[in-house]
Amino acid sequence: MKHLLDDTDLAKLSTCIAGQMGLFFPPSKWKTLEQSILTAANELGFKDVHECMSRFTSDPPSKELIEAMSCYLTIGETYFLREIRYFEILERQIIPEIIKNRRDGEKRLRIWSAGCATGEEPYSIAILLHRMREAMRDWDVSILATDINPHSLRKAREAIYTDWSFRTSPQWFKNNYFRPAGDKQYELLPHIKQMVKFSSINLVEDCYPSLVTGTNAIDLIFCRNVLMYFTPQRAATVVERFKHCLMDDGLLFVSPCETSNALFPGFDPVSFPDATLYRKQGTGESGKRGKSEPEKWRNGAGEEYLSLSPIHRFPDAERVAGSPIQEETPIPRFPHSPALETTPVQGAEIPPYQRALTLYEQGAYTEAAEMINVQLTQDSNDTRALALLCRIYANEGKLAEALKASERALATDKLSSGLHYLRAVILQEQGMYDGAATALKKALYLDQDMVLAHFTLASLEQRQGKVRESQLHFNNALSLLDKYRPDDIIPESDGMFAGRLREIIRATTAGM
Ligand SMILES: C[S@@+](CC[C@H](N)C(=O)[O-])C[C@H]1O[C@@H](n2cnc3c(N)ncnc32)[C@H](O)[C@@H]1O
Repeated sequence: MKHLLDDTDLAKLSTCIAGQMGLFFPPSKWKTLEQSILTAANELGFKDVHECMSRFTSDPPSKELIEAMSCYLTIGETYFLREIRYFEILERQIIPEIIKNRRDGEKRLRIWSAGCATGEEPYSIAILLHRMREAMRDWDVSILATDINPHSLRKAREAIYTDWSFRTSPQWFKNNYFRPAGDKQYELLPHIKQMVKFSSINLVEDCYPSLVTGTNAIDLIFCRNVLMYFTPQRAATVVERFKHCLMDDGLLFVSPCETSNALFPGFDPVSFPDATLYRKQGTGESGKRGKSEPEKWRNGAGEEYLSLSPIHRFPDAERVAGSPIQEETPIPRFPHSPALETTPVQGAEIPPYQRALTLYEQGAYTEAAEMINVQLTQDSNDTRALALLCRIYANEGKLAEALKASERALATDKLSSGLHYLRAVILQEQGMYDGAATALKKALYLDQDMVLAHFTLASLEQRQGKVRESQLHFNNALSLLDKYRPDDIIPESDGMFAGRLREIIRATTAGM
């Protein structure tokens, strides 16, 4: 192939791709990169590869273009029960342990498959949980599955697969959970399909944790075979954010080739034969454990499962040395909700509220709550502090406390649409949909232009099968979004961009 792009172009392109999507294209992959850009330029209707490249490297490229390009640059390889050991551990160790620990607490389990490709990973999890339904009869289980690649997400939502996706799964898996869909294709049964909620999240760009995207208070994050394609800097940032999304003691699943002693600060390795998971260090059980020795899981008989597998070095840590890729631009810290906006501090003494806010943004939720309580001893009716306390508890998964905090906040300011919205989101997470809808309607009564209230009410109505009402509120949200620029932050959203919400609505309503 004649070279259409020179090394300077390719270096610029790979830096831009690393910045926008996290993906690592060292010089050894530039030939493939050039081919991918050529195909993208042809299929996306650009005049030539140079026009495609200059649009993509413009500052900033549109989110639509980033997602369109992701279809040519990402590797979507996946299959059911991939690295089956992890699913065995999930079924035999992790879920029983969670059930045991929460016997008297809130029976909620929140799982996120980040980088889910065409859905085989989250659906494998769903099938496994369905097999355990007897033990989880009164549990509220949610599985969120996200990816950057819109084609993959479309396929995932369709849930129709060929034999290739079942290449290592046992026969019962396909026989019991899929039905023939013609031409050697198999469709996942609807009751499993509806256990998984798909949405588009770019792990590099989007704001998480967030109540809006449901990426808060997660128990288990599966992000397997994703970080291995990222530059070390982007991988580290993503891992840091995952930490904020996880509950104390929550677990991160990466693939065996991504395990690393260096990449997971703030996590303790948990060793199983042939697999290592990462447990968030917190103030829960893991916080009380000693950190020097990797944790070894014990089976029911109290016997240790000793790690048989060596802990590999994360490949990118080596690859980056000597790479001509320029220094990446730092990812801006995600902005917080304007409802939590602070005023600059004069003098040396930082007020407890602002210290709490900083701790909250760092994901140090327990310390943030302590600081808020200091603030509340000074003024027990501090609305901002109570609203922040509510968000802190929500991110920790303490929904009853979050609800109480939101109600205390509302008692100080009954006319705040933002506080009614916050209460609605908590009620929704608790599965109290009617109460959530009422609270959202109150928020809209007080502020009919509140985009997030329209969006959340629409999602709620869609879930309840109220198609017409839902469509109406989605349309309202879309027309209100026209007043925003794509990079404006939506009020009360914990930092979500208007452009992103518009895309989420478009994707959600595509089949309505
Ligand atoms: C190899 S697949 C892994 C699928 C599945 N987790 C598994 O282990 O079988 C990697 C997935 O990561 C997604 N991905 C790559 N960069 C991403 C980003 N910046 N944000 C979200 N997803 C991304 C790709 O689109 C692709 O679907």
